[in-house]
Amino acid sequence: MSKFNDKYGNKSAFHQADSQYKPLKKRSIKAVASPQNIEQEKSHGVEGEFKKKENFFNVKSKNMHDLTKQRKFYSNSLLEVPSSNFTADLAQLINIINELFPIKSQHRRSLPNDVHELSLILTEERARLKTPYWAAPRFLSAYLRYFLPWNLVRLAWLFPKLDLSLKNGSTILDCGSGPLTLPIALWLHRPDLRSLKLNFVCTDTGSSALEAGKQLFTEYTGGKSSWSFKTIRSNLGQSLAHFRKPEHKADLIMLGNMLNELSTGNREPLDQLLGQLSVNLQKALNPKGQVLVVEPGTRLGSKLTTNLRFHALRTGYEVLSPCTHQEPCPLLDPAARSWCHFSFPVLEVPRALSSLSVAAKLEKQRASLAFLFLQNKHIQDVDSLDDDYFDEDCDLEEYSENLDCEAGQRASANHATFNQKNTESLKNKTCEARIVSGKILIPGNKDMAFTQNPKMIDGRYACTSHGLALICPFNKPEGSKVTIRFIGERDKKSGALLATEIIAKG
Ligand SMILES: C[S@@+](CC[C@H](N)C(=O)[O-])C[C@H]1O[C@@H](n2cnc3c(N)ncnc32)[C@H](O)[C@@H]1O
Repeated sequence: MSKFNDKYGNKSAFHQADSQYKPLKKRSIKAVASPQNIEQEKSHGVEGEFKKKENFFNVKSKNMHDLTKQRKFYSNSLLEVPSSNFTADLAQLINIINELFPIKSQHRRSLPNDVHELSLILTEERARLKTPYWAAPRFLSAYLRYFLPWNLVRLAWLFPKLDLSLKNGSTILDCGSGPLTLPIALWLHRPDLRSLKLNFVCTDTGSSALEAGKQLFTEYTGGKSSWSFKTIRSNLGQSLAHFRKPEHKADLIMLGNMLNELSTGNREPLDQLLGQLSVNLQKALNPKGQVLVVEPGTRLGSKLTTNLRFHALRTGYEVLSPCTHQEPCPLLDPAARSWCHFSFPVLEVPRALSSLSVAAKLEKQRASLAFLFLQNKHIQDVDSLDDDYFDEDCDLEEYSENLDCEAGQRASANHATFNQKNTESLKNKTCEARIVSGKILIPGNKDMAFTQNPKMIDGRYACTSHGLALICPFNKPEGSKVTIRFIGERDKKSGALLATEIIAKG
């Protein structure tokens, strides 16, 4: 048995040995900048930040204490503090990447620049996305060593608490899969799924990343996992069309960081594109199938998930997360200043990743994501819905700037209605809310209904079925689900409904 399997303690996943598989010969793990690995680093002659043994133990117990505190802090959140094994697992994955896809010393020197350049392409210089970046080996290398690991860090916070309804034999379609980032994240962050027989179909317009991802997964799991993978070069429209056939329908469709790349030329509005996508996803799903869309925690990422949500509710899905309700999204309102995303601290990453991030001038203290998790309700005959595949040639960037989309207008109208009618009638009403912002310091003054105290107090924005709320005083992390009571007034600056948290007794 490969040494990569031992640590999972989940032998049933590995009973079907793959006799073809030959693991890489020698592998050492020494790349984690964490107290857990300091002793190992010392044995390799690497001097970490912790020079004395006493320091190591102090730091270790302090870290464990911090971790326990963090876990408690996030206990009501949809986010979960990553498991204590995660950093070592990620370091191991990075080691495997380095061994499977070695780079020549000349390319090693340019790696930080390549990472930086690819980051620009994915963010500020998006016109360059028209040329597929997977065609350049240096970008594949940069993605595998920087973007893949950081996406795994992000997903470590999201995946553990997702209510996935996968079972033996489930089929998962991962579109825009790249190097299989989402399936690898499922393996790392959902050990409960490892013993299931899952069939993954991973599609992308570029095949080099798909193949690299498949090799990486096979090597990491010792080639003996009970998950099967088909990698197919096809675009999103083709992939969903294939899955319309009754014998192919998916139980879960995942789109990871790819919606924001559906760009080039055409002028089809974002709204139309996402409307068609919602229908086409449903046609490719089993009746109770689920859809998971993850995007960067940017305005664009949030615009994509919240607009898709708008259409999904019309098409016939239940929104499982992040929303606590099925009403219009208050953050779709063009007047809303913030956007739906969740950010969290970067606690500990492998040393190889932190040094590459510093060298590429992209180090992070916090990371974020936007996401949407849907369940097919299958309430209408989807096959009778508009049969056109959506047009992938739409310039999303342009339309994301154009806030005047149908969904935005509807949300705005809704919000205005709430503004006029509901504020006072909501007084003392209770409601579930999802925290969607970091801590906001609010001056306690006489305009604030909460307090006459001139001191600054903590508050956070929350999403509710009645619109955006401002809970104050409050200090629970992003993603928390809480019960609140409206006080019948609005915050003058943001227009949010003012509320207080109801704290359960005992
Ligand atoms: C940022 S990468 C994300 C890869 C992976 N899902 C992840 O989260 O790391 C975006 C991926 O979407 C793919 N992509 C872009 N447009 C696509 C389209 N129209 N159809 C299918 N894949 C597409 C790109 O080739 C790329 O692999």
